[in-house]
Amino acid sequence: MPVEISPSFLTADLTRLGDEIQAALQAGVERIHVDVMDGQFVPNLTFGTLVVAAIRPLTLAAGALLEVHLMIEQPENLINEFVQAGAQLIIVHVETCPHLNRTIQQIKDLGVKAGVTLNPATPLVVLEEVLNEVDQVLVMSVNPGFGGQAYIPSSTNKIARLRRRLQERNLDHIALEVDGGINPGNAAEVVSAGADVLVAGSAIYNSKASVAHNIAALREAVEGTL
Ligand code: DX5
Ligand code: ZN
Repeated sequence: MPVEISPSFLTADLTRLGDEIQAALQAGVERIHVDVMDGQFVPNLTFGTLVVAAIRPLTLAAGALLEVHLMIEQPENLINEFVQAGAQLIIVHVETCPHLNRTIQQIKDLGVKAGVTLNPATPLVVLEEVLNEVDQVLVMSVNPGFGGQAYIPSSTNKIARLRRRLQERNLDHIALEVDGGINPGNAAEVVSAGADVLVAGSAIYNSKASVAHNIAALREAVEGTL
């Protein structure tokens, strides 16, 4: 699977959100990553279904996947609304889903892809009983809540262990996505450890260079790892 890039617009210029997303889509990203935060599960409050609905036409026109990362308590209460707004892949935190099997089924019954994610301190073993059910596993390489944080180095070993586990269980069709602190300096390491999809926020949306330049730099960084 060629490495996909999924920009998070948390650190984009939100006064020009449409333009910022268009710039990433025109640079050829395969996905757009919407970070939904409720101020409860994580100490930040961000976007809701209105933003998902607003950007859906852009991703649809570009043929890009619109993925929604739910950093919220009781995600089961809002999954339907996010799918109605246009989410094509719903990612829930195992830490917020005491009935994870039922929540995954709820997502799949809506006809969209199901992803699970786990915080840096949450061990991979919690995924054992649901790996057969999901389309994607997202490894958080920062503590969720903010863009612009530093990559947690121990994430690389966690990614490699997850990749091995997927291979052992013949589940390589599951996308292995990594989210948090990804930049051209560590992207090759992350992909070599087994990541298929890289979420990047501040490495793409920053004052140093254009969106197109930053995406090209990420692509270049992983080129040699295929
Ligand atoms: C953090 C979010 C990430 C974050 C990525 O809670 O889930 O998607 O916005 O931003 P960077 O790439 O700047 O760490
Ligand atoms: Zn995210």
